[in-house]
Amino acid sequence: MSDVATVESDGLARVAAASTLAELRAVEQELVGGKRSGLAALNSRLGQLPIEERKEAGRAVNAARARVEAAIAERAEKLAAVEREARLEAERLDLTEVLERRRAVAGHRHLVTQARDELEDLFVAMGYEVAEGPEVETDWYNFEALNMPPAHPARSMWDTLYVKLGAPESTLLRTHTSPVQIRVMQRQAPPIYVVAPGRCYRRDTPDARHLPVFHQIEGLVVDRGITFGDLAGTIEAFTGAYFGPTIHSRLRPSFFPFTEPSAEFEVSCIFCEGRGCRVCSQSGWIELGGCGMVDPNVLDAVGIDAEEYSGFAFGFGIDRCAMMRHDIDDIRHFIANDIRFLEQF
Ligand code: FA5
Repeated sequence: MSDVATVESDGLARVAAASTLAELRAVEQELVGGKRSGLAALNSRLGQLPIEERKEAGRAVNAARARVEAAIAERAEKLAAVEREARLEAERLDLTEVLERRRAVAGHRHLVTQARDELEDLFVAMGYEVAEGPEVETDWYNFEALNMPPAHPARSMWDTLYVKLGAPESTLLRTHTSPVQIRVMQRQAPPIYVVAPGRCYRRDTPDARHLPVFHQIEGLVVDRGITFGDLAGTIEAFTGAYFGPTIHSRLRPSFFPFTEPSAEFEVSCIFCEGRGCRVCSQSGWIELGGCGMVDPNVLDAVGIDAEEYSGFAFGFGIDRCAMMRHDIDDIRHFIANDIRFLEQF
């Protein structure tokens, strides 16, 4: 009888101590669950008792079992209520932003789309046409035709995302808008004056200036007598028109396999006015893009006579332009989908 009391009081203490439903179910299994449970073990010992004691002991075991089972049921109800509360709290949606709106508000174009449209307009006004190309590209357009044969070390300038299609590493998400240069030159003879805006993809870790999916606008001019001076003048004209007279631009020598000579163009940082800050990595300048004179090998790849024609190309970040123009210090705001941010533009 004292064993029955001990098993019962131990059991009740363990039931009370169970802090989750899962824990309680485990305790239940051990106390009243199967043949090996505590109370079942007591039952199996009844047979060893003299017949006159067996009845009373049996009743005591049954009563103990009933009390333990009742305690389990009561505890289960409490724990279920607590867990339900926690789940509801976790799933709670704060709809105040929506509720506060008294009238329906029409949406508008995303700031990056606005910037793309504005840049397109700017170049169209300078006599350019707008071209497009696919976002899923072949290795040939993205690299090879741009003077980067397989295993060319310059390919590592772009951390590429490949698509499982065809031969391994033959299909990819374009890392820049430069393949559109090739597509345009294949279907159109010079003179060529085009811009090609669009989405690009790289295995870049997001930070204040980088996103794995971002936007570039490519420019390509191929005509007779095109010089580096035309390129520099075009960059000057577009940065002045887009950013206004307070922002300066500069070209710095650089390297791209598809242009020779190549340059990087930068605009003075509007956040610190050139003094150096987090956004410009303390340099005072923000890189917008790359440019240069189209390499004769690229003209050869599409059958344009490099003796007769020359050209320049440039490619720069549309997201970066929008950041600079609107004082946005982190590119990740564009994709956070916070309506309070988006509504400002
Ligand atoms: C290129 O992509 C070259 N195709 C540019 C070019 C075109 C050179 C034509 C010569 C002739 P680059 O990797 O530097 O170059 O990228 C150009 C611009 O894209 C950068 O300056 C930046 O403004 C933008 N950009 C690049 N990676 C990212 C990113 N992860 N997030 C946001 N913007 C980016």
